[in-house]
Amino acid sequence: MIGTDRSRGTTLEPATVALNQLARPFLKWAGGKAQVYPALQRYFPPVAEVETYLEPFLGGGAVFFAYRPATAILADLNSALIVTYKTVKSNVDGVISELDAPSAQVTEEGYRDARVRFNKLLSRVSKLGAKQRTEFASLFIWINHTCFNGLFRVNTKGKFNVPFGYYQRPTIYSEVSLRAASEALREASAALVSYDYERVLGGADKGDFAYLDPPYDPVSDTAKFTSYTRGGFDLEEQERLARVVHDAVGRGCRVVLSNSPSERIRKLYGDFRQEVVRVPRSINCQGTGRSPVEELVVIA
Ligand SMILES: C[S@@+](CC[C@H](N)C(=O)[O-])C[C@H]1O[C@@H](n2cnc3c(N)ncnc32)[C@H](O)[C@@H]1O
Repeated sequence: MIGTDRSRGTTLEPATVALNQLARPFLKWAGGKAQVYPALQRYFPPVAEVETYLEPFLGGGAVFFAYRPATAILADLNSALIVTYKTVKSNVDGVISELDAPSAQVTEEGYRDARVRFNKLLSRVSKLGAKQRTEFASLFIWINHTCFNGLFRVNTKGKFNVPFGYYQRPTIYSEVSLRAASEALREASAALVSYDYERVLGGADKGDFAYLDPPYDPVSDTAKFTSYTRGGFDLEEQERLARVVHDAVGRGCRVVLSNSPSERIRKLYGDFRQEVVRVPRSINCQGTGRSPVEELVVIA
């Protein structure tokens, strides 16, 4: 259906390389944690000690794909994102053949046409049949790699409105990574849900481990303005999250949380261990700012 430039990645040697070891994010995501994972990982419990891994702010899933827990509950409020993950998990062949079939070109016009089709499906994303879900997931992946900065933003009517990214021959996907991601999701029997984090963490218990990567508390006035006007997490949300985290920890769930090292976040988690890591990243949660930043890691 979509058809475009994409890489098939490296050739697999089935005898020597387990497909699931090649799993990595198949979406660009604001605030993606791929680069900071090595610094975060040292605060994680060994996977063998974890009964259920919970990641309620899944985004591009960089941490899940790197950590590789045996059982996982993966969630994000973005239902379009979750439908895409579910489809990659259950029908990766279908998604790949949609992505492979020749159609839309990576031009501004081709992008606009794809976005119209995407928005039609997005308006009833929870009611799509299997075939439409496959089309939707492949459109999501295609648009994610051709739009500006891989951002996901909808207007007040719920329509995706990110402009064309003007990339020269963008790589839309790697077949190897997409298949590996699908296998990793199936192997972890990943439950994929579009719930608010409170509902996900409400079920967390002793033996479980949750990694939390919420939209960050803004550090500067500009960032604050950007975040609040885009319906980002405000201080009340950060406070609600801190209460939910304290409750989960009280029940015996282990938690690692990333956020900005602002005074108020430090205070909200003042009773837990805190570390600062430096993060090289291309787009942050607000889609602005490109220089390395310091991030807070809360370990509980
Ligand atoms: C910083 S991003 C996570 C990035 C992710 N760690 C990665 O590596 O790509 C935050 C995510 O939280 C989601 N989100 C925002 N509010 C939420 C809520 N109340 N409950 C669950 N997810 C939420 C957003 O849709 C977004 O995908």
